[in-house]
Amino acid sequence: MSLAPQDLFPHLAGWVANLDDVFPGRPIKDSVYLFAVLEVGHVLSLAVLGGASILLNLRLIGVGLKDEPASEIHRNMRGWMWAGVIGIIITGLLIGSANGERLYTSGAFSAKMVGLLAGLILTIGVTLPAARSDGQLSLGARLAGLVGVATFLLAIYVFLAAKLSNPGLWHVITAGALIVLFAARGRTRIAYVGGMMALVAIHQVLTHIVYKADDYAHLDPVNKAFAWGFVAVILAVGAVSAIRAGKGEQEGSFVVKALAFAAILVWVMTAAAGRWLAFA
Ligand code: HEM
Repeated sequence: MSLAPQDLFPHLAGWVANLDDVFPGRPIKDSVYLFAVLEVGHVLSLAVLGGASILLNLRLIGVGLKDEPASEIHRNMRGWMWAGVIGIIITGLLIGSANGERLYTSGAFSAKMVGLLAGLILTIGVTLPAARSDGQLSLGARLAGLVGVATFLLAIYVFLAAKLSNPGLWHVITAGALIVLFAARGRTRIAYVGGMMALVAIHQVLTHIVYKADDYAHLDPVNKAFAWGFVAVILAVGAVSAIRAGKGEQEGSFVVKALAFAAILVWVMTAAAGRWLAFA
């Protein structure tokens, strides 16, 4: 089943077809440099947004800049976070206006837009207020967390449906694995690294030695099974680490840490869907 914008909003076809004939799409398309400059702005905004999100959310998880209270990091980073969010949306809309029909037929673009919505809800509704109050979650922030995670799951579902682009979800799995690597402690971290290395090795042997590169009948189910296996291990070890850290000296409950984890991953997913627009 395709969930590209053309399937969800078929009545917009005429408007989209006309987008690169009018301002601002026309001058961007006609210019030799403008599209490239705007795309650089898009990627730089992503770097600013991603950096701010990672610093703030890792602090809420209890790793990274632990010498400073979360509220201090919030004071220093909130301007960068807003600059990144506003910059990526404005540059995205401008390059999108010169590229409308390509986005309209792309399932990855639908995933990216639902991911953007989830990212905005989790960042504005949870990360920023939780960091401002040193890890405390108001009722409003909890509700935003619930809606944000549900929207994030919907974005993943839409990304899974985007054939040819859905391997981009491996970026999200890798990012999740790295965050949990930072968050895990002591023997849990050693067992986690050992288990993950074993899984990666078995996966590589199966997909590179046991089955041939064009044997999709076997490669597809193996890749899918391993993707779910990695997700299960990452979530289980992440949950154990967050529960342990919640009982220790670090501020912030299990719920804050889990939402901060989701708030980083949602931007990774949105960026992965952006990059994989090139494929479908
Ligand atoms: C209104 C919102 C947005 C629109 C309309 C939009 C539109 C676009 C377009 C048209 C491209 C070029 C695709 C291509 O030529 O292959 C692109 C690329 C990309 N976008 Fe967005 N975007 C938006 C928001 C975002 C957000 C929120 C993120 C990340 C969190 C993001 C990450 C990316 C990435 C990583 C690329 C690939 C850049 C490259 O490899 O050159 N975009 N986007």
